[in-house]
Amino acid sequence: MRMEKQRNGVRLVLLPLPFQGHINPMLHLANILYSKGFSITIIHTTFNSPNPLNYPHFTFCPIQDGITTQSDDSSSLNLLHLIILLNIRCVTPFRDMLAKVISDARDNKEHVACLISDGLFYFTQGVSNTFELPRIALREGGASSFVPFVLFPLLIDRGYIPIQDSQLEETVTEIPPLKVKDLPLIDTKEPEKYYKELSNLVEGTKASCGVIWNSFEDLESSPLSYLRQEFQIPFFPIGPFHKYSSSSLSSSSSSSSLLTQDQSCISWLDRHKPNSVIYVSFGSLAAITAAKFLEIAWGLASSMHPFLWVIRKGMVIDDGKECLDPPFPAGFIDNLEGRGYIVKWAPQQEVLAHKAVGAFWTHCGWNSTLESICEGVPMICMPFFTDQKVNARYVSSVWKIGVQFEGEVKREEVVKMIRGLIEGNNKEGSQIRERVLDLKEKARVSWNHGGSSYTYLDALVNFILSFEPKR
Ligand code: UDX
Repeated sequence: MRMEKQRNGVRLVLLPLPFQGHINPMLHLANILYSKGFSITIIHTTFNSPNPLNYPHFTFCPIQDGITTQSDDSSSLNLLHLIILLNIRCVTPFRDMLAKVISDARDNKEHVACLISDGLFYFTQGVSNTFELPRIALREGGASSFVPFVLFPLLIDRGYIPIQDSQLEETVTEIPPLKVKDLPLIDTKEPEKYYKELSNLVEGTKASCGVIWNSFEDLESSPLSYLRQEFQIPFFPIGPFHKYSSSSLSSSSSSSSLLTQDQSCISWLDRHKPNSVIYVSFGSLAAITAAKFLEIAWGLASSMHPFLWVIRKGMVIDDGKECLDPPFPAGFIDNLEGRGYIVKWAPQQEVLAHKAVGAFWTHCGWNSTLESICEGVPMICMPFFTDQKVNARYVSSVWKIGVQFEGEVKREEVVKMIRGLIEGNNKEGSQIRERVLDLKEKARVSWNHGGSSYTYLDALVNFILSFEPKR
């Protein structure tokens, strides 16, 4: 990507939601827009703060959210509570900071053209209205998973939600091929609060003056066109962001990482044959029980294929408490004789781009899904909550670039899935591999000159430049 060093006198204010899967796309987007000549201010919470030192060309403005990593509030186990809290606690500090940024910009003979905030930071719509500042929503997830969010009231009306165990395998006829079990729910004792948050997300997004999607037309043309009709505001599907962003100045995949990426796994991968390793990671939030952990571990070991497994601190829960260390049975690691490599956090994009990696066992977070597509790596899907369930169904049944666990994870099934995907003598596995390579090529074309994402990016730049400075 060509870097236009000359700033154009127009400043953009960006506000990421403070979770890894949301910070990454927002900072990639910031890099993209900087490369187009805009000056960038990132207003961010002190909770899960990005590292300003990694982005010397942006201005970072922290706001106090009162959430500390030691408090129960910050536990990712109660994501819903955390999102509600952030939308309450950030209102005043954000409004004050935004006023300061606008006034500082004026002093520097710049003008703040708009606010770009995460869709889940829906409170920002009201604040930007008070400043008469246009707000563009960034939807960091896919359009396919946004469709059921929009349809939630209807799905409740028609009795799909709350989900009944007897209906899990039924197709939701309004949004095939989604089954009832794929609906983007979370495990909560307060479902009403979750429905309310989704409604806030959808209404906040509708009230914005446009939506930026980390997606591309060839991947999600049909959900995008449905949503365009529903929303009647401009859409800018300019993804996958990380592919633009990685070729732009001073950006690397580690810049926005909240955890230190263990690079040692790359030299471990270097020692393996092409397409032989299974990479296993369940993103930054998902947690598994100790029993499930063991099924996964035994399945990986029995597959006889080398594996690289990200076991985040606190990812395994036993009796409602986070396990400090992964609960491997005694002697398990020694018996692998080097076939397994465990890290606490990986340089995921580099891992997926490594020729040794033959499959990605993933929770289907949207970033992971896109990153896998961009490197042509087939997926084994094990979704946990919300959009991940929809993404997994799209991977396995719409794009057909992976396979999915349909029930409880059992070690025998793990072995079957890994072998089916990685060993070349399986017809279904080869077809999946061909399709994901085809989609990888479509993604590459979209961000190249003249491609759909490239063209939408130009349209986005013109859209932003059309916002008149306030007197
Ligand atoms: C969350 C939600 O879980 C997901 O459903 C939603 O789509 C986005 O927000 P998360 O669970 O973190 O995201 O998953 P994902 O969207 O895949 O994002 C994880 C990011 O962390 C990716 O960009 C990935 O490259 C990075 N990562 C992951 C690492 O850098 N190292 C790792 O070891 C694992």
